[in-house]
Amino acid sequence: MKPNSVAVLGLQWGDEGKGKVIDYLSGRCDAVARFSGGANAGHTIVVDGQKYILKLLPSGVLREGKICLIGSGVALDPWILKTEIEELAQKGITVDGRLFIDFAAHLVLPLHKVADGYQDSLRGKGALDTTKRGIGPSYADRVSRVGLRMADIFDKEQLEEKIDYVFSRHEECVNKVGDDKLKDRKKLIGKLEELGAQFRPFVADVAAMIMELISSRKKVLFEGAQGMLLDVDLGTYPYVTSSHTTIGGLFSGLGIPPSYVGEVIGITKAYMTRVGHGPFVSEISGDLAEELRESGGEYGSVTGRPRRVGWLDLVALKRAIRANGVDKLAITKLDVLDRFEELYICESYQLKGARTNGIPPNHPDFAKAEPVLTKIAGWGKPTVGINKIDGLPRNARKYIDYISLKTDVPVWLISTGSSRESTIIVEG
Ligand code: IMP
Repeated sequence: MKPNSVAVLGLQWGDEGKGKVIDYLSGRCDAVARFSGGANAGHTIVVDGQKYILKLLPSGVLREGKICLIGSGVALDPWILKTEIEELAQKGITVDGRLFIDFAAHLVLPLHKVADGYQDSLRGKGALDTTKRGIGPSYADRVSRVGLRMADIFDKEQLEEKIDYVFSRHEECVNKVGDDKLKDRKKLIGKLEELGAQFRPFVADVAAMIMELISSRKKVLFEGAQGMLLDVDLGTYPYVTSSHTTIGGLFSGLGIPPSYVGEVIGITKAYMTRVGHGPFVSEISGDLAEELRESGGEYGSVTGRPRRVGWLDLVALKRAIRANGVDKLAITKLDVLDRFEELYICESYQLKGARTNGIPPNHPDFAKAEPVLTKIAGWGKPTVGINKIDGLPRNARKYIDYISLKTDVPVWLISTGSSRESTIIVEG
């Protein structure tokens, strides 16, 4: 029997509005499980006018009683998680008895954040412009098999040795840019033990918990972070994050088989954004870009950086849909396009004198590709807050139908504002 579970994955460069869709869906789920990324993510959710930005906690945490799971694929910064839990507690939301962190989740240490900035600076003009949350160095230590995992904090005898080993890997950076605080290993061990004591009740075998939930027909929501184009293998390498943001990352990051995923929902904005450097074929600039950025409030929720903006890129979207096996689409921020008389959609790329419908395999080619655009009439009326498909202006509906037609995937949800209520569910 097909499980009740659903995966929610970003199909662009992150910031697609996954937080809102996950929050919406989590009302009907028993548990929400996060499988990749770390505090580089910033899932924004607005509830009763109050804005929450979640970095590590699964977005279901805002719904009372929902089980929240953090899988082994997540790069966990215990300092940030602690702050996040405390800030929510101040707003009356507690996680006791419903938050579970896999014992194999790798830790992000202060050292990794310093290494992140240092390593990116060494790239000079080719810098990735990372979030500086220590993601790359923590994942690199993981694959080099020297990383520190959640369970290691509780193993006093080996902790010191393991910390020494991690430090030896980053010696050059620690010596060049680290201050005395960073170099104090004893203090770090003390702090980790203190954090470990606080997190002890939350640490669990998350894979086993999900298996148990699925076996008892509970509905689990698998929460993606970042998006397909930032996937370390399938994205715009090297301008990517260091995790698998796509469906494969879900299985390895939670330790569960493909048969546990009932349905895959792909999230795309009605246009496109990117933070950080790297190719962006349908990017726009000048006043138009400024208008789109302002209209969409396109500033990084973690770093505050202005996001680069552009038209919806169907080449990339179709690729993301296929790679993830997307069953239905959620299109977010439709209302941001309300003010534009003319819209464009990128249908294919022009590269080296030829048209292509595929993603160029290497970065220099991708960077050179030009968008082949189709002009589409705007709707010139506000759609903000519309929550019925029939309420949408004709051209807005046409825009949605066009995306569905071109991608051959049904549109299931349309978001017309940040509140929970500004949501259209398209009945199948
Ligand atoms: P890192 O994940 O911090 O290593 O950053 C690598 C690239 O991914 C940079 O261009 C970041 O801006 C981008 N990135 C990482 N996480 C997110 C996200 O949640 N939203 C958008 N961009 C992200």
